[in-house]
Amino acid sequence: MANKKVVVTGGAGFIGGNYVQYMVDKYPNYDIYNLDELTYAGDLTKHQELEKKENYHFVKADIADRDTIMPLFENEKFDYVVHFAAESHVDRSITDPEIFIRTNVLGTQVLLDAAKAITVKKFVHVSTDEVYGELDFDPTTFFTEDTPLQPNSPYSASKASSDFLVRAYHETYGLPVNITRCSNNYGPYHFPEKLIPLTISRVLNDEKVPVYGDGKNIRDWLHVQDHCSAIDLVLHEGANGEVYNVGGHNERTNLEVVKTIIKTLEKSEDLIEFVTDRLGHDKRYAIDPTKLEKLGWKPTYNFETGIAQTIDWYLENKSWWEQIISGEYKDYFDKQYSING
Ligand code: NAD
Ligand code: TYD
Repeated sequence: MANKKVVVTGGAGFIGGNYVQYMVDKYPNYDIYNLDELTYAGDLTKHQELEKKENYHFVKADIADRDTIMPLFENEKFDYVVHFAAESHVDRSITDPEIFIRTNVLGTQVLLDAAKAITVKKFVHVSTDEVYGELDFDPTTFFTEDTPLQPNSPYSASKASSDFLVRAYHETYGLPVNITRCSNNYGPYHFPEKLIPLTISRVLNDEKVPVYGDGKNIRDWLHVQDHCSAIDLVLHEGANGEVYNVGGHNERTNLEVVKTIIKTLEKSEDLIEFVTDRLGHDKRYAIDPTKLEKLGWKPTYNFETGIAQTIDWYLENKSWWEQIISGEYKDYFDKQYSING
């Protein structure tokens, strides 16, 4: 029997990159195609080991480029699509929303058309809990799959739009789909513009860590390996047309996260600098993962074990993140924050 063909969009980014590695190792009888445009967030150095494997393939392409995507899908006849590619950083969406609409909305629509044209077996759309908007600080409230979508940032609005398109292609054309909505991920190869890798890299360099507002906003942290196993499960077992939330009940305030990293690295809390709050800053995210747990998912990390593993990884892989923060990232940082040292 021919190998199954799985195309993973955004496989040079943080979560897609971890997922591609997970799939290539776990399924030697699947051909895994990493389709990525290699924007500022994409990097292939992380896949040097994978490139030696016969079941790994890389295609450089822009998901919003119909003239490339349609013939590619017609030629390759992929069985499964797992769609991660996106503009993913809220702060960048506040400064420059347009690219978020092009990539996240138009790009998703092009992929849906391509998947429909070759009748794929499953299209898994990786979305975010941010489409639900924000929760207040009542710790007994959670996002469920039935929570209405009320996105607050240009990023989450673009993701919600893509979720609606995925739903519409299922309802209108019968495309077999699942949508996953996960909480904040962290772990190896996380791009250092996001809170956890930004804090680890700056603390290691004895540089100030910018904390927005009073630092009391809450995020629900999910280790990227647990996210990969969730998507694997949904790809193979998810009921057609269903949405699954992914999260492991690991709520922390931003200040708790930053202080944990500083303590683990035995540095001083004087490195914390409170800066002007993010516009439209969502107060709290928290996931109810009951539906996915009923499908058989169980996370392997809690926040304590996950953050320890992640800090160790950043200590052991300095060359990976140092090459990023020395490049165009430096200009981004200087524009985004008015702190330096
Ligand atoms: P990332 O920014 O690290 O990676 C995005 C990848 O997509 C990069 O490799 C980039 O080159 C690629 N890409 C961007 N535009 C493209 C285009 N037009 N064509 C082809 N490739 C393109 O993102 P991430 O953090 O790995 O997030 C992956 C997905 O998970 C996104 O859809 C995001 O919305 C979702 N998500 C992320 C988080 C999180 O905490 N990081 C949480 C919830 C949901
Ligand atoms: P981030 O990692 O950007 O993820 P998201 O916005 O998708 O949740 O931010 C996580 C939290 O950390 C969020 O509440 C904003 C806050 N934050 C800071 O306080 N300082 C920073 O420099 C960054 C990037 C984020």
